[in-house]
Amino acid sequence: MKVIILAGGGGSRLFPLSRTLFPKQFLKLNGEESLLAQTIARFLSVVNPADMVVVTNQEYVHLVRTELIAAKAQDAHILLEPVARNTAPAVAFAARYCLEQLGCRADEILYVTPSDHIVHPVDKFAANVRQVIELAKQGKVVTLGIQPDHPETGYGYIQAGQPFGEGFAVQSFCEKPDQKTAEVYLAAGNYYWNSGMFAFTIQCLMGELAAYQPAVYALAESSLAEMTANFTEMPNISLDYAIAEKSAELVMLPITAQWNDIGSWDAIYDVLDKDADGNAVKGDCMPIECSNTLILGHSRLIAGIGLEDILIVETDDVIVVAKKGESQKVKDLVCELKAKG
Ligand code: GDD
Ligand code: MG
Repeated sequence: MKVIILAGGGGSRLFPLSRTLFPKQFLKLNGEESLLAQTIARFLSVVNPADMVVVTNQEYVHLVRTELIAAKAQDAHILLEPVARNTAPAVAFAARYCLEQLGCRADEILYVTPSDHIVHPVDKFAANVRQVIELAKQGKVVTLGIQPDHPETGYGYIQAGQPFGEGFAVQSFCEKPDQKTAEVYLAAGNYYWNSGMFAFTIQCLMGELAAYQPAVYALAESSLAEMTANFTEMPNISLDYAIAEKSAELVMLPITAQWNDIGSWDAIYDVLDKDADGNAVKGDCMPIECSNTLILGHSRLIAGIGLEDILIVETDDVIVVAKKGESQKVKDLVCELKAKG
């Protein structure tokens, strides 16, 4: 098995800490290690570094190298996309790399993982991975699903069908539904969030690409050199839209490890240690009569008086102050800032 670690996304939901030049996977949100280093460490319990391929682009290569050293996994491969075209082309590129450079056969299993989540404990997760591998061996596209607890619109939703092995055949998959649809899915009870982790054999991946993404398939079928030279022609599409929403071979295994996407400041508040009043503070901060408030200071003293349910994040050039529960709207802020230039 090869573990394909996707580390080329440029997320903006954690602005102002995450930026195009320093996206979420490189942030140290819950301790001393970045999310990417934690991802690598998690998979070291399953494979050797030489069986890992980190897919990213030139812009992040130094950050990735630093994280590989931090995770003591210098022997992992780094594959550089000429341009970012989202996860479907990234995974197809990695599959071609495995065939040509790592001597993989078509029945090799690829375990594709995002690098921007927290998952623990490692032993439970490793057990989940082993179950996923068993399903992938049967020619299935396998994903790990999470029991949802709120109508999040930033995730894919998986409708569980008939039991299949230790998981379920997938009846339908909807990537990032609107709020109303997410509420309907949550109420239905048989929908899971998509973890973004996928496993399949190379042969299975190629078959799915041939069926649903002919433009990606055509390049993936050529050679690594051809693919590299023509990467800009790839459609910009994630694996979720490209395959998961369409596949007839999708199988979902409910994850038993804890999974957290920490995709918003609200989610960061949830994972940090709190004082007796429910405040989570980092940096030079003075919360006076504050409760349930997040203050992430960076270079200045941040004093809060009488705050309740507030999120404050400070960087060198930006301070964001938001009401708790509203932090998904940070992406609207980023859109407005981009529009302003
Ligand atoms: N190499 C490479 N190239 N990696 C990429 C690219 C790219 O062009 N685009 C994104 N990635 C990486 C990101 O760095 C991240 O680790 C992973 O691929 C997933 O991309 P995100 O952009 O973070 O996706 P998402 O969070 O919006 O949605 C995905 O994850 C959700 C769970 O967190 C989907 O799979 C959803 O269905 C899922 O629920
Ligand atoms: Mg993500």
